[in-house]
Amino acid sequence: MAKSRESTVFFCQECGYESAKWMGQCPGCKDWNTFVEEPVKKVTYGGRNPVQGTGRARAAGPVPSVLSQIQVRGEDRISTGIGELDRVLGGGIVQGSLTLVGGDPGIGKSTLLLQVCRHLSGAGHRVLYISGEESLTQIKMRADRIGAFTDNMLLLCETDLDVIEEAIRGQKPEAVVIDSIQTMYSENVSAAPGSVSQVRESTGVFLRLAKGLGVSVMLVGHVTKEGTVAGPRVLEHMVDTVLYFEGDRHASYRILRGVKNRFGSTDEIGVFEMRDRGLTEVRNASEYMLEGRPDNASGSVAACTMEGTRPLLVEIQALVCHSNFGIPRRQATGTDFNRVNLLMAVLEKRSGIQLGSCDAYVNITGGIKIQEPAVDLGIVLAVLSSFHNQALSRTLAAFGEVGLSGEVRAVSQARQRVAEAEKLGFQTCVVPFVCAADCQKNSGIEIIGVKSVQEAIQALF
Ligand code: TYD
Ligand code: MG
Repeated sequence: MAKSRESTVFFCQECGYESAKWMGQCPGCKDWNTFVEEPVKKVTYGGRNPVQGTGRARAAGPVPSVLSQIQVRGEDRISTGIGELDRVLGGGIVQGSLTLVGGDPGIGKSTLLLQVCRHLSGAGHRVLYISGEESLTQIKMRADRIGAFTDNMLLLCETDLDVIEEAIRGQKPEAVVIDSIQTMYSENVSAAPGSVSQVRESTGVFLRLAKGLGVSVMLVGHVTKEGTVAGPRVLEHMVDTVLYFEGDRHASYRILRGVKNRFGSTDEIGVFEMRDRGLTEVRNASEYMLEGRPDNASGSVAACTMEGTRPLLVEIQALVCHSNFGIPRRQATGTDFNRVNLLMAVLEKRSGIQLGSCDAYVNITGGIKIQEPAVDLGIVLAVLSSFHNQALSRTLAAFGEVGLSGEVRAVSQARQRVAEAEKLGFQTCVVPFVCAADCQKNSGIEIIGVKSVQEAIQALF
């Protein structure tokens, strides 16, 4: 039997950092004011393996398996029926896996998972959708917008973990959706639903069910900015796959990004559009990202980035203007703020352009966040274009990493990037010099290879 002990601990609501005393700043994620006190009942599983769920050790002791003799079934993955999601997952949902879908409230998590349920149940899989947030009629209304469902689709409105566990064991579904993990509670834990210990306890229960019964469990986790609800980051380490929904809630497109994946790569993204009948896949993401690009406007440059195996063209916008204050304002949306500051310092030092008294705003349109250094050259060109108030050609795209000496460094998969730009009708591509010869092969697009930022300035301004 499990031994238990009542005590209280302090948890960071952001990252789940645990501490015996309250702290103003979390040593884990460096956020301020995120600690809350929670009563916890420490349960020590007496030698029980939470993954196998096979209780007591036998008299002879546990018997390890021989690695080379473990059988892997071929048909492990079930396709979700949504190509963009399958790509992010690495080919479909793995049987017996635990997947977390995080995102801001209202971004479309419930809608996406309901659509997944529709495809799975339509393909003959038994699916159980458990909601702790919406009533049966609310879910039905949403389902009616999405399409027709077969009788394989079961709904349950419940938040009590014991009842849910019983339902899953009784109904034996192949896939389960939990909407959301923050509403679930276990009576074993005295903290309120949504607290770090409840969220962790609930995830632990679903982990055992997933691995023990071989059912694929998908959890919804709301990203919360403040308040008393623990964010999905506190359970990232427990689940197999973590997907986050990004994008502007006010715009219609959504980007689903794999952050962790025990069964595939993590740098894939899926692009969706929220329509009146649910989320639709966007196949040609680059076209979508460049939609509405202004004509003949200074400060706008198209950059080629890679998202996993897929090249993606994005528009980088910069606005550089004279500052009215002593300390100029700098702002970056969709990319790293510090990187933009660094690139501007490089520009100032290496090409003698006085940006010290200028406000600068850099924005990657489309609500996407890009960390790849290959956008550096695009950012630099956008800043220069705005500074000189000189528009660059609409059919020009650029990519390349910019180093501290102002050198333009090679990036991976240059050929694919150029091919994508060519496909979208671009006529000129500014690339790192070392990639130029490779890019020019079999392509009809004009390639400008540059060794440094100065060379790029000479070629374009
Ligand atoms: P929802 O899936 O409820 O978000 P989450 O579960 O992440 O909180 O998404 C809700 C938003 O999507 C809401 O603003 C309405 C919109 N929506 C559509 O535009 N079209 C649709 O077909 C559906 C079902 C929702
Ligand atoms: Mg929801």
